[in-house]
Amino acid sequence: MEIVILPSASEIAKLVADKVQKLLKIKPNLVLGLATGSTPIPIYDELVARYEQGLFSFSKVRAFLLDEYVNLPFGHPQSYLEVIRRCFVNRLDIDPNNVHAPDGTFSDMFLSCSSYESKIKESGGVDLQILGIGIDGHIAFNEQGSSLVSRTRVKTLTERTRQDNARFFNSTNEVPRHVVTQGLGTIMDAEHIVLVATGISKAKAVANTVEGAVSASCPASILQMHKHVTVVLDDASASDLERQDYYRSTFSAKPSWQSI
Ligand code: F6R
Repeated sequence: MEIVILPSASEIAKLVADKVQKLLKIKPNLVLGLATGSTPIPIYDELVARYEQGLFSFSKVRAFLLDEYVNLPFGHPQSYLEVIRRCFVNRLDIDPNNVHAPDGTFSDMFLSCSSYESKIKESGGVDLQILGIGIDGHIAFNEQGSSLVSRTRVKTLTERTRQDNARFFNSTNEVPRHVVTQGLGTIMDAEHIVLVATGISKAKAVANTVEGAVSASCPASILQMHKHVTVVLDDASASDLERQDYYRSTFSAKPSWQSI
């Protein structure tokens, strides 16, 4: 795991966008894993700004979302597919048909989840997965206690996650109880995973993820078992890390030829 601590969300966005830009040069048909939620928005804004400057094209990029609410009507403004369309996909030249999300309106749950897994495999697998993290350590919608080798499936949200996400709805009651989410095993198949966190509310989850034991009580801690993970943090979300000084000195001494 590489831990990068930067002063602001905009610095984080630039670093991650640099990585995407570099990958696009090597592989224009990059397969990107996209997280929704508030944390990655500055990254998407930065990518859109660079696209508008003509620095790259997303025309051949394929993208997979991590998760989706179950049974929100098709086109509901808070469906994760709609959110990612609004904040990212509709703002650059990616083909909307190449942007996939788990189907939350399925009639056959098992078929729908396994066909999502197959779609990811058929694409050649995710090259770069962008992840946020919940204050309890969830990634995608793998709540505490999730199997560390789980695949795409339906999960029940905790009350805490529903309350956290109520800010996007009129009330907690409107937040669906069920979601369909890539499993931890699915996420772990990505070639490179970049987890981003900002704000003091994420400090404990970040410390448990990076320096705690690998445990289903902190689902993100499974990332310790991945060969290429970059955790990009602001000062506040890094504030509970014991080895902060080491991470900072490692990053500042990083050879210039080596990207994240
Ligand atoms: C959403 C997702 C979630 C969020 C997490 C943090 O696709 O995967 O795990 O990343 O709930 O959300 P924010 O960034 O809004 O704090």
